[in-house]
Amino acid sequence: MDPGKIAFIQGKIDRPLVLVGMMGCGKTTLGRVLAKTLELDFTDLDDRIVQDTGQAPRAIFEQHGEPFFRRAETAALKALLGEGAGVIATGGGAVMTPENADMIFSRSCSLWLHAGLDLTIRRIGDIGSRPVLHGGDPAETLRRLMDQRYPVYARADITVENEDVSVEATLERIINALYEYLS
Ligand code: S3P
Repeated sequence: MDPGKIAFIQGKIDRPLVLVGMMGCGKTTLGRVLAKTLELDFTDLDDRIVQDTGQAPRAIFEQHGEPFFRRAETAALKALLGEGAGVIATGGGAVMTPENADMIFSRSCSLWLHAGLDLTIRRIGDIGSRPVLHGGDPAETLRRLMDQRYPVYARADITVENEDVSVEATLERIINALYEYLS
């Protein structure tokens, strides 16, 4: 990792950094190491929803339904962006609420972690905690969600491919992409 590039990004970044992309694309893992590298706070939007509501996404989906979850997601995102939070990893469906997309794409530096279908399926593994994949063929649902969501993710300022390489290698790609974007 180039310390000069890291220092440059630290001096230049004046907005929250928001990671978007499908479940299983590595937003939380990469978001955490990115925040550490840039010495910024890290927040996972789903964790913030748990903090706000006292329930995990799966329980919220099951007990209150997806619209309730999406409202909690919008409220949590609005609060976080208002706090000027450092690095935020969003849930895969967050950008599909138009209000959230408007907030993310106008008030943050947004980064899409792109991964293909096969790798995403492998990374997700157990679908137990992924309520949007319940009640159907998970691969088919993922394909449909990718078709719907990829054009919206593509509005992000930066796109980085998260292939089957190490976390360090993808982190380096993110640092290089941020450096170029901010230069
Ligand atoms: C969702 C993704 C989840 C979580 C919720 C809904 C989605 O987050 O927000 O289960 O609609 O794709 P991750 O992308 O972190 O798994």
